[in-house]
Amino acid sequence: MTVILEAKNLTTMLRNRAGIVTAVDNVSLKVRAGRSLALVGESGSGKSMTCLSMLGLLPSSGRLMGGEVLFKGRDLAKMSRAEIQKVRGKEIGMILQDAMTSLNPLLTIGDQVSEIFRVHQGITNKAELRRRSIEVLEKVKIPAAEERLDSYPFQFSGGMRQRVSIAINVAMSPDLLICDEATTALDVTVQQQLLKLLRDLQQQNNMAIVFVTHDLHLAAQFCDDVAIMYGGRIVETGPINEVFAQPTHPYTIGLLSAVPSLATYSNRLSAIPGQQPTLARLPQGCRFEPRCEHAIEQCRSQYPDWFEWGDSGRRTACWRTQESLAGVLAGIPVRSEKSVSEVA
Ligand SMILES: Nc1ncnc2c1ncn2[C@@H]1O[C@H](COP(=O)(O)OP(=O)(O)OP(=O)(O)O)[C@@H](O)[C@H]1O
Ligand code: SF4
Ligand SMILES: [Mg+2]
Repeated sequence: MTVILEAKNLTTMLRNRAGIVTAVDNVSLKVRAGRSLALVGESGSGKSMTCLSMLGLLPSSGRLMGGEVLFKGRDLAKMSRAEIQKVRGKEIGMILQDAMTSLNPLLTIGDQVSEIFRVHQGITNKAELRRRSIEVLEKVKIPAAEERLDSYPFQFSGGMRQRVSIAINVAMSPDLLICDEATTALDVTVQQQLLKLLRDLQQQNNMAIVFVTHDLHLAAQFCDDVAIMYGGRIVETGPINEVFAQPTHPYTIGLLSAVPSLATYSNRLSAIPGQQPTLARLPQGCRFEPRCEHAIEQCRSQYPDWFEWGDSGRRTACWRTQESLAGVLAGIPVRSEKSVSEVA
């Protein structure tokens, strides 16, 4: 399968109250055509900063310090602002959590949708812009699309606004769509409708998707691959069914154990003890070490190398992966396929 996006060793520094910190540290990931990669991890782990770094959309306090962002073979990190702007919106779409912040409250839906055809296809004929806008709103299943063109964002429900945002971002049939918590603020029914819509659009265009979420149920349901982030780094990655069936990094194991399972509902959830380290005071060795019950001396002094195995692209940054895989790490359950269906 064609690799659409490959980020290599991305490193982003940010200026915050604590000084200059590394928010994205040596992050590498691949997304293939027609597949979805879930980017998961606790709040502040660097998921959004990774996406913004790849798209040249960092806040003024941030700077991409190193790495490559190969999109269909071209390095986005080396493009000028004008060049990358041409790629965004046309070949890459990005949908954020709250469509209210990405839609202009002062412009009609029609104005905002038609803008994309004006900018990227140079269409100026009003009737043609209107026709194209109706077509794309119908594609995302907005009822009575023609009548709704003259409405303003505040006249739409949250789910409908998110559909408009999806319409704007898929209007040019992009090869890559980045969804940063795109369905988090919506109720479960609307969330499911939007996931189905995204999946249909993905199949129509063989689109690659990066799906940022806190929700492991959604990730398991929607995505093919997963990358788990902790403290600005990816700590485990691979096909999602394999990673969730047999997680090897103690952080992944902790995250999965903290997921309430409807199938085995219980009022006792296991939480990962402690908190993520602040970026200004990262441990010298493994970043998870202060919270890890399996830490050994080496973990305190050296950041773990990647351990890679099999031919499906699984890899984990933990000194004890081999023991974890062998099931000899005390307290780490060897999961079965059943565990995945429970999560999904
Ligand atoms: N505009 C900013 N200026 C400075 N630091 C920032 C800025 N935005 C985020 N950060 C910091 O960058 C780090 C990574 O944040 P990021 O937003 O990528 O996390 P996240 O994994 O997306 O979290 P969430 O799940 O809450 O969205 C955090 O320490 C955060 O405090
Ligand atoms: S490297 Fe050590 S501290 Fe880090 S997750 Fe693995 S066992 Fe725990
Ligand atoms: Mg975020």
